Amino acid sequence: MNKKIEKICCIGAGYVGGPTMSVIAQQCPDIQITVVDMNESRIAAWNNSNVDLLPIFEPGLADIVAEARGRNLFFSTDIEKAIDEADMIFISVNTPTKNYGKGKGKAADLKYIELCARQIAEIATSDKIVVEKSTLPVRTAAALKNILDNTGNGVNFHILSNPEFLAEGTAVQDLLHPDRVLIGGEDANAITALAAIYENWVSKDRIITTNLWSSELSKLTANAFLAQRVSSINSISELCEKTGANVDEVARAIGMDSRIGSKFLKASVGFGGSCFQKDILNLVYIARSYNLHEVADYWEQVILMNDHQKHRFADHIIQTLYNTVSGKKIACYGWAFKKDTNDTRESAAIYVADYLLNEEAELVIYDPKVPVEKIYADLDYLHTRTPEENRRLVTVVTDPMEAVKHAHAIAILTEWDEFKTYDWTLIKELMKKPAFVFDGRKLLNRRVLEGIGFKYYAIGE
Ligand code: NAD
Ligand code: UDX
Repeated sequence: MNKKIEKICCIGAGYVGGPTMSVIAQQCPDIQITVVDMNESRIAAWNNSNVDLLPIFEPGLADIVAEARGRNLFFSTDIEKAIDEADMIFISVNTPTKNYGKGKGKAADLKYIELCARQIAEIATSDKIVVEKSTLPVRTAAALKNILDNTGNGVNFHILSNPEFLAEGTAVQDLLHPDRVLIGGEDANAITALAAIYENWVSKDRIITTNLWSSELSKLTANAFLAQRVSSINSISELCEKTGANVDEVARAIGMDSRIGSKFLKASVGFGGSCFQKDILNLVYIARSYNLHEVADYWEQVILMNDHQKHRFADHIIQTLYNTVSGKKIACYGWAFKKDTNDTRESAAIYVADYLLNEEAELVIYDPKVPVEKIYADLDYLHTRTPEENRRLVTVVTDPMEAVKHAHAIAILTEWDEFKTYDWTLIKELMKKPAFVFDGRKLLNRRVLEGIGFKYYAIGE
């Protein structure tokens, strides 16, 4: 196969499929792109005439969708038609941690991937390039090829691995200016066809090609290394608190060593997001499946450290509030796993809140982008308490000042910029005294807060 790609289908209209295809459509107006999903309400939201109501909030995304949608970018639930017409099919479906059976709590659940492969095989009557965009365990391409070749209609399938490195909150900029685009594959023509798409806006030297397995494994490895940096600095944050060192100062001092580098050294209440934990668990599971227990133990520690950081932050709140938070009102600023996204998957806020609720704290939660029902759904999903109890102990507000009225303490759990702009003098007036701020993101200025009269705690100081 050596033809120019005219039609693309992307299965999965989530945080990756939606933004990625929007940017490809914007940069390649000659290619028709249809993003399909079995979730009807998600597709309806992508088609909402008001682009401020898209299902995913990402800075800059609404403008791109407004530009390309209806021109060469389409969102649809007609999966079969889109597969049938496409020259190239991206699989961007979710690959969550398995919550049943063998590998429960560790392995990636590949049932959605397999469903896609079976559907493609059933429908395709012309040759297709199938691109793994989802993050997958190393050697998944072999399973995909097996399904496609054994259940298909005798057409040729070329499988490529093209993992996505975007981070939420900066997805559009990451897609427009990627550090690199990685393409793994065996068929030179298929690789060239995919590279040609990216070459519309990415310079050739940033498009690297590898074999399939290196590409699949590189994605898991990149996330493991990034998460490891956060756990490494978080481990040092605890030592800083005991010794009088300041973790920001340590991070700056080590980050200026060009071999270490300055990014991803921000101590925090713990990393969240849909990727880091899931991908490390998967890496650990794969290592164990090859009997590489030292390798598995090594990476598992990154997650153990992250769990410890969330717990010790919540513990510190309880200890400081005179060893009991029962019946005390604690305002939580932020619920998303990082700023500039409405995504809450694995957010540290969920676990800190759960821990405080176990101690019968009363929480009032404010997040600028996360809807009320999502916050309750996140808590209910843990099954620690009944939904009724969660609603009794947790109030969600849309006014940040409402959250702090008569509160004993504020916990800053997401680094939203707007928190820095609040009238903290007024906030202190509204709170019970002494007024405590527990800054899990090192967002506020200690000097200013202490000047106002807050009791201020920040991670790693
Ligand atoms: P998501 O849950 O937001 O979106 C996945 C979508 O796929 C859902 O809307 C779901 O309905 C749909 N889907 C599942 N099976 C389907 C099927 N058989 N047919 C049609 N639609 C189907 O997930 P996401 O965050 O976009 O992640 C997708 C993949 O990309 C994962 O493997 C993830 O690890 C990887 N990834 C995510 C990020 C990120 O920042 N979120 C970054 C890089 C890579
Ligand atoms: C991550 C990877 O960065 C991205 O390349 C991959 O494609 C998907 O997974 P994402 O999870 O969207 O992206 O956000 P990221 O910026 O990596 O942040 C992950 C978590 O780590 C957040 O909770 C963030 O607050 C936390 N973090 C990040 C820190 O606590 N400190 C840091 O220095 C950096």
